[in-house]
Amino acid sequence: METKYKEIIKRSLEARKRSYCPYSHYAVGAALLDSKGNITIGCNIENASYGATNCAERTAFFKAVSEGIKEFDAIAIAGGKQGEEPVDYAYPCGICRQVMREFCNVNTFKVFIVKSEDEYEEYVLEDLLPKSFGPDNL
Ligand code: THU
Repeated sequence: METKYKEIIKRSLEARKRSYCPYSHYAVGAALLDSKGNITIGCNIENASYGATNCAERTAFFKAVSEGIKEFDAIAIAGGKQGEEPVDYAYPCGICRQVMREFCNVNTFKVFIVKSEDEYEEYVLEDLLPKSFGPDNL
């Protein structure tokens, strides 16, 4: 495992601690690696009007894109009960997969689903969002 991927795995677990999840008590952290090697973290941010909630992955993407970053290499995602270490793999929701699709190459963008620093799964976006619709279709 390359150092940069080890680092985002660790940072995704740390990012969970920033989660604002008073309604679900389900804390998600994401760490997004861009093509220059920089990492942007994100957490889920809930809202009393539940539909206004933003997922951790989209928080990371929107932070990065709003800073002018549009080329990405990988994301690590960790989720589980607030205040506890993850016990299951937390796969990204459909909306977050589609946001990844907007900015990432489906065949090369890596998605790490993280339970701990030593327990994780590795995919490329195509595995999680096959036969997708993206910018090149318009
Ligand atoms: N959540 C994420 O942050 N990422 C996902 O991909 C799935 C769900 C958050 C949203 C909400 O705050 C909580 O998990 C429960 O759905």
